[in-house]
This record gives sequence, structure tokens and C-alpha cells, in this order.
Amino acid sequence: MKTRVTEILGIKYPIMQGGMQWLTGAEFAASVCNAGALGTINASVFDKVEDLRLEIRKLKNMTDRPFAVNISMLPETTENELTDDYFQAVFEEKVKIIETAGRNPEKYIPDIKKHGVKLIHKVPAVRFARKAQEIGADIVTIVGYECAGHPGMDDVASSVLIQKATGVLDIPVMVGGGIVDGRGLVAALAWGAEGVVMGTRFIATKECPINTKFKEWIIQAKETDTILIQRSIKNTLRVMKNKAALKVLEMEKKGATLEELMPFISGKVGKKALAEGNLERANFAIGQGIGLIREIKTVQEVIEDTIKGAEETLLRLNTIVG
Ligand SMILES: Cc1cc2nc3c(=O)[nH]c(=O)nc-3n(C[C@H](O)[C@H](O)[C@H](O)COP(=O)(O)O)c2cc1C
Repeated sequence: MKTRVTEILGIKYPIMQGGMQWLTGAEFAASVCNAGALGTINASVFDKVEDLRLEIRKLKNMTDRPFAVNISMLPETTENELTDDYFQAVFEEKVKIIETAGRNPEKYIPDIKKHGVKLIHKVPAVRFARKAQEIGADIVTIVGYECAGHPGMDDVASSVLIQKATGVLDIPVMVGGGIVDGRGLVAALAWGAEGVVMGTRFIATKECPINTKFKEWIIQAKETDTILIQRSIKNTLRVMKNKAALKVLEMEKKGATLEELMPFISGKVGKKALAEGNLERANFAIGQGIGLIREIKTVQEVIEDTIKGAEETLLRLNTIVG
């Protein structure tokens, strides 16, 4: 499979593993890279930039394939915001691919280009995708309503976003949100995407360092078992529909402020609950694709089955077309 995305990133398959905070550290990303897709680690989980450097070095020791570092940028006003330091560390560690998300990375573009780094910018709307092209991103990823994490404020499905984006952009576009197998990959390519980003599918893998109870929940979950929270603070988040999420939603309906919501939406609560296997206690980002995932697999199986499934889908389509 060759697309501009595989060429630019130097990967075998047009599949990127979405960065998923502390769930996708060096070991996880290496297993993705070694199976031919693009593994990603997240910078924002490191309170100390030195620890990010160590994680990058660890990953380099585990694979000689390309990988990405995701820098999910918080609002500039956030206390202890480390974005500048993350970029510096990533440049110094000679990382070749950065994925940004959260806000416009324009101010970092000169340095990104100077260091010969490829930039993927992830956005939830076509207007932001246009902007990404304008400022010089190499690839833009568009994520839609189905996706885990932040689908933006517009409630538009990935299928529509990708067709719209590829219609108006010249740079290659990847799509994420609800893609879990080969059918999804072929559909994405048919819509004009040159690669896919998969997050939710990779949670239900043997390697994902999350409590097994979450994986078992996923393989029996329905596509309706997620919910959108944080819309009132303009930071919509798709999460598992559980007690914690319903509580946040109820607080939002009553007009809770960001300060009031903070103790219930902070990532720190999530980390503990994920490790302990407490399914109700914290907000857990997960996409509607859960309704399609019926098996816990290894990372390699997910990737190989996606490619095999894509080939089978193409054969089936050929018989339809004749
Ligand atoms: C548990 C979890 C945590 C995530 N954390 C981040 C993050 O910190 N930054 C980011 O850009 N995307 C994050 N994502 C989103 C993924 O990188 C990816 O864009 C998304 O999962 C793709 O949609 P899908 O889940 O439908 O495959 C997260 C997703 C999950 C499931």
C-alpha cells in the first residue's frame, strides 16, 4: 500500500496509532512501529521534560522504524504549560515526526522545518485543516464525531469531514474516528484519505497497559455506549458512558464552572481508575468504534488483520464492480 502518507512518513502501511496518553508509551509505540504502522507517544503525560527524553530514547532502542511524538497543546494560559520545552526536547532528540493537536502550531513551524521534522496536525474541522495546510503542515489528520477524545464542537462525522477536506486540500489527509478494521481503511481510502488514525481499536490489545476490565468491557460494548461531555467548556470529549461521565454532564446542565468541573475531569483521576480497573470512577476517552470491536488481539494482529481485511474488501468490491 503506497500513498503520499506512507512515502512522507516512511512507513509500510497507511496506519497511524493515535497517541493515547500514558497508555501508549515506548513499549506500545514500538510494537506498532515493528508491525509496519506509525507508533506514537504523547509528550503531555510527562511533567518533567527529561522523562520525555528518556521515553524517546527507550523507543529508539526498541525500534528502528519511524515513530511520532504527539504534542497535544493545552490553552496557552494553562499553568505549567510545557509545550515550548516539549518541542525543544523533541528537536534535540532528533525525532523525525511530530503530531500536534489542540491549538495552531504556527509559531513552531520555522523550527520544525529547520530540524527537518515532518509535521502532522490533527484537527476536528475542515476550516482548521485548511489553516494547517496554509501554515505548512506536511499532513493533516481530520477526526470526526465518532472518535475517542476530542471530536470538536461541530458534530460532523468522519465520513463527511474526510471527503470535504480532501476536496479542498492539496496536502495528504488522514482520517480518524470509528476506523477499526480493513473495511474502514478501504472506505477511508475511497473517501480520499491517504492514511488512517486508529485509537479505540488499539485499546483492546494485549499490549495496552490498561486494566483488563476495560478491554473486556469494550469487546461487549455497543456503539451507543459512549457520550460527549465538556461541551459547556468548549472542549467536547467523547468518553465511556459511565457514572463519572453522567455526573459531569449533570453538573454541566446545572451550569458548573470550569473550576467546579476540574476535580471531575482531571486526567489524574483517570490514570488511577484505568490502572485499577474501576469502570465507573473516571472519564475514559473511547470512540463509537467500540461497537465493532469483538476481540482482544495483539497489536500485530490488529495491523495485519486490518491489511488482510482491506485486501478482502477490495476483492469483494471488485466482484461487485465486475
Ligand atoms: C484513551 C485515549 C486517550 C487519548 N488521548 C489523546 C491525546 O492526549 N491527544 C490526542 O491528540 N489524541 C488523543 N486521543 C485520540 C486518539 O489519538 C485518536 O485521535 C482517536 O482515538 C481516533 O479515533 P478512534 O478512537 O475512533 O479510532 C486519545 C484516545 C483515547 C482512546
